[in-house]
Amino acid sequence: MAYSEKVVEHYENPRNVGSFEKGDDTVGTGMVGAPACGDVMKLQIKVNPATGLIEDAKFKTYGCGSAIASSSLVTEWVKGKSLDEALTIKNTQIAEELALPPVKIHCSILAEDAIKAAVSDYKAKHGNAQPAAATATH
Ligand code: FES
Repeated sequence: MAYSEKVVEHYENPRNVGSFEKGDDTVGTGMVGAPACGDVMKLQIKVNPATGLIEDAKFKTYGCGSAIASSSLVTEWVKGKSLDEALTIKNTQIAEELALPPVKIHCSILAEDAIKAAVSDYKAKHGNAQPAAATATH
C-alpha cells in the first residue's frame, strides 16, 4: 500500500517521540491498543497546572506507519489546547489531514482514543473527574 506524502513525512520525522519522567503528576498517560492489528500507542500530555493548558506531549507507538503518523500529528495538535479542546479532536480530522485510506482509519481512531485516555488519566489524578463534594463528606 502506498502511504500519503504526509504520512511518510511524519513517519520519517516523527514529532515528540518519547515519554515524560515517571512520577510527574502534571502528566496524563493514555495507552491504547487496536484489536484489529495488535498495534499499541502510548500518548502523554503535560499540563501546566496554572493555566490548565497542555504545554507538551509525547508518544511511543508500536505500529504501522499510519499509526505513527497519527500519533505524531496529534502530539502537535494538542499543544496549547485545554483538556476539553483536546477532547474535541476527531479521528476523521486526523484521517483527512493524513489522507488515510479506509483500511487505515482505525489507526487514526487509535490516536483519538489515546488522547481521550491521556486526558481522563490526568483528570483522574487531579480529582477533576468527580465533583470535590463527592469526596469531602466521607
Ligand atoms: Fe493497526 Fe495501523 S494497521 S494501527
